[in-house]
Amino acid sequence: MENIAPALLAWYDAEKRVLPFRTVSTPYRVWVSEIMLQQTRVAAALPYFERFMEELPTVADLAACPPERLTKLWEGLGYYSRARNLQKAAQILVEQYGGQLPDDPALLQKLPGIGPYTAGAIASISFGKRVPAVDGNVLRVASRLLLDEGDVTTPAVRTRLTQAVQAMQPPDRPGDYNQALMELGALVCVPGGPPLCDACPLAGLCRARAAGCAQQLPVKAQA
Ligand code: ADE
Repeated sequence: MENIAPALLAWYDAEKRVLPFRTVSTPYRVWVSEIMLQQTRVAAALPYFERFMEELPTVADLAACPPERLTKLWEGLGYYSRARNLQKAAQILVEQYGGQLPDDPALLQKLPGIGPYTAGAIASISFGKRVPAVDGNVLRVASRLLLDEGDVTTPAVRTRLTQAVQAMQPPDRPGDYNQALMELGALVCVPGGPPLCDACPLAGLCRARAAGCAQQLPVKAQA
């Protein structure tokens, strides 16, 4: 497939949402934002993110935060285990890493609450590492671009789509590339209704669009 990166990044530069964790992309900010965004929409998470960063600006502040205060900061976001895992991880970071997040995705994944996606997001967005960060948005975009009718709930199909998008990840902007794919999935290549292909910078390269079946993808056998 023709490289999607140039058109994708040009679109991202022009159309991306200005978000606080994009304006200042420290590892701590990217980590907290990605955890919040796992189960919460961007617009809903933003006020929580801003307040969290004001009250707990560093990993050490999070590690030392009294539980009642943490509960208050998280109240309304739901899935409180996310906050508990954040704090547990912050305590490990203080004890073992001098309060800094490591740049190695394998080390990041050892921390509570950090899986392959979050580790890839932190490593690529904050540290400029050329690693994938594939969430549901990116799987949807990739399945349509490649017209992959495999079940995206299976590891084999996820791996195949991850490899396909990573092969086009530019070494000079790996984090922007990952975020551009997420952003395209959130704003243009949307789930539910018909995708907004007229607004898509990749429409001319998209195999599902050419075949007229974009809305039927991705295939999810279970759930
Ligand atoms: N969803 C989760 N993380 C995101 C990010 N960095 N940009 C856009 N959407 C996201």
